[in-house]
Amino acid sequence: MNKNDILDLLRASKSGHLSGAELAGKLGVSRTAVWKHIRSLEESGYGIEAVPSKGYRLFAEPDVIRMSGLLRPAGKNAATRPVIYLEETASTNIVAMERAGQGAAEGMVVIAEQQTGGKGRLGRSWSSPKGNLYFSIILRPAVAPQQAPLLTLMGAVAVASALRAFSGTAAGIKWPNDILIHDRKVSGLLTEMSAEADRVRHLVLGIGINCNMNIRLLPEEVRGLATTLAAETGRTVDRTKLLAAVLAELDRWYGAFLADRRSVLSAWRELNVTLGREVSVRGMDGEVRGRAKDIDDEGRLVLVLGDGSARTVAAGDVTIIKGQG
Ligand code: BTN
Repeated sequence: MNKNDILDLLRASKSGHLSGAELAGKLGVSRTAVWKHIRSLEESGYGIEAVPSKGYRLFAEPDVIRMSGLLRPAGKNAATRPVIYLEETASTNIVAMERAGQGAAEGMVVIAEQQTGGKGRLGRSWSSPKGNLYFSIILRPAVAPQQAPLLTLMGAVAVASALRAFSGTAAGIKWPNDILIHDRKVSGLLTEMSAEADRVRHLVLGIGINCNMNIRLLPEEVRGLATTLAAETGRTVDRTKLLAAVLAELDRWYGAFLADRRSVLSAWRELNVTLGREVSVRGMDGEVRGRAKDIDDEGRLVLVLGDGSARTVAAGDVTIIKGQG
């Protein structure tokens, strides 16, 4: 028996209350042991009130990620997902790539409360103060390296779907994998991989989601372009529940990808906020401007330029030109 068992029982209580005797009976310990654990939970930031003749009620939880909330959805053979939880690290992608190189199983997740060297796309940094989600998942798909960008699109589909269902916001995908709400970035994905010429050894999908942080903690140059779920919904986000929802969507969409890649491309098209809009794409070969027409089978963006010709872009940074769409 540990403190989490008490929390799980209090959370599951229909009436909201459980007496010391009921808790002691369910857990097979003395009422004194229950009382000591309740005291210790209060010291860790949980709000627990004791109502005479009703019992204990959990009314507030500290903003920490609860490992017990991250088990795979219950089922006959429900397995615990291997999770590494870190208070602080340079980058969860770095840890996950190291673990994957040492043979860690597919599905392992590395989570950190904050990152000191968070990595963004195109060599940028990802500011990572406390209050958000930063995690990386190890995948071992039997695909060629050229297919890797599709897995990033798969990740974006999973995150956007989870955010829509969880928060009721109109989260959409800006090519290739930025998640926006009301044109401001709420989440970003960074895929890194180790591969041979014709096969991916392992791939790490790193995901950052802005949840509860104060936007003023971001560097000034990105502040106006970013948002948080809390700002969009007016509510503090339960990060454990959100993370569990995103992981469940990742399981679902990774399965869909392995069964039929086209299902991911169609879902991406449904959730995107890029196609049909006038965009400018800054890539390695400079900047190109045109109307975003579609994505091709490898997830590249197809643009129609001003002279009517088509141009396909494999990587870059999209700016949606305002007034269109
Ligand atoms: C981007 O939009 O530029 C991608 C941002 C990806 C950030 C996440 S946070 C978890 C993981 N660890 C990192 O260092 N980066 C990714």
